Amino acid sequence: MSGYTPIRILPGEGIEVLDQTLLPHEERYLRLDTVAGVAEAIRSLRVRGAPLLGVTGACGMAIAGEERGAGPEALAQAATELKATRPTAVDLGAMVDEALTAAGEAGGEGERRAALWGFAERALTRQRERDAALARHGRELPGLEGAVLTHCNTGGLATGGEGTALAVIAEAWRSGRIERCYATETRPLLQGARLTMWELGALGIPGTLLPDTAAASLIASGQVSAVITGADRIAANGDGANKVGTYGLAAVAARHGVPFYLAAPLSTFDANTPSGEAIPIEFRGEDEVGGFGDERWSPDGGGVYNPAFDVTPAELIAGIVCESGVLRPPYGPAIAALTAQNVDG
Ligand code: MRU
Repeated sequence: MSGYTPIRILPGEGIEVLDQTLLPHEERYLRLDTVAGVAEAIRSLRVRGAPLLGVTGACGMAIAGEERGAGPEALAQAATELKATRPTAVDLGAMVDEALTAAGEAGGEGERRAALWGFAERALTRQRERDAALARHGRELPGLEGAVLTHCNTGGLATGGEGTALAVIAEAWRSGRIERCYATETRPLLQGARLTMWELGALGIPGTLLPDTAAASLIASGQVSAVITGADRIAANGDGANKVGTYGLAAVAARHGVPFYLAAPLSTFDANTPSGEAIPIEFRGEDEVGGFGDERWSPDGGGVYNPAFDVTPAELIAGIVCESGVLRPPYGPAIAALTAQNVDG
């Protein structure tokens, strides 16, 4: 971490989240102590990134216990509301369900509340440990030398720890293997331009921002030795959903013999989703494409196609880095073995 944290847990009270919609110009923490407030913060990407969504979902359940009482019906209702906010990142739904189970195993009302806060705090600690292990495994990836390209934002802002793909990049930079990170701007919400460039600056890593549309020619020019991104859900066969545009980067990288990697904790693997076709893709509103903030540049009513994520087929992925090591294709057997172990923690 570099002096900022995207979430602070205040057991018995609520959480404070760094409002990522305001970055990089303003670092403002938002206090959340209602389920509706947590749901709004997730929907509007004030908190975002698959692993952080999982931690925030767990916190949302603890907040539900304080706000609405920790009875089974109130908690089940809160779980439904939190899970409905964003469908693609498997971490969110999985952590909300795990929190529900943790509460169900506790005795009375007071114990259930304590169990929910304990679960949320452990979720954040566990994520930090996972990030650190993942980064160590990833730094020796073949091709991670010279300059790498990443997409969207996968640093501490997206996990609460050191991050996933950006943590790997940071490790490779610290060990002198890479000299520069290219960051796509990541239209339409600009996670690359606003958040990744901010985090690269905080880490002291030289960063170069490019429009999404320039990535193909950059890769074709031979100036990028590897492409590495995070993931929101990795299916049982290794197909991986990530920020829209990732598939295009992987396809172009393959065309030019540049390795494309995913970096994700085991919590992002979904053994119950057989392949990418079954991954639910979040579609977002017209306002995000036809303008930004209050500014409009497209005529109203034209309609938009605005998926937040796309799926990269497993055959385009050279390796998947997780806290247990680097998986290589074919991914199916390795994912089955690892996710079975991960059920216990
Ligand atoms: O819509 P976002 O900003 O939540 O999308 C985030 C991503 O696509 C990240 O790459 C992914 O969650 C991995 S985060 C470590």
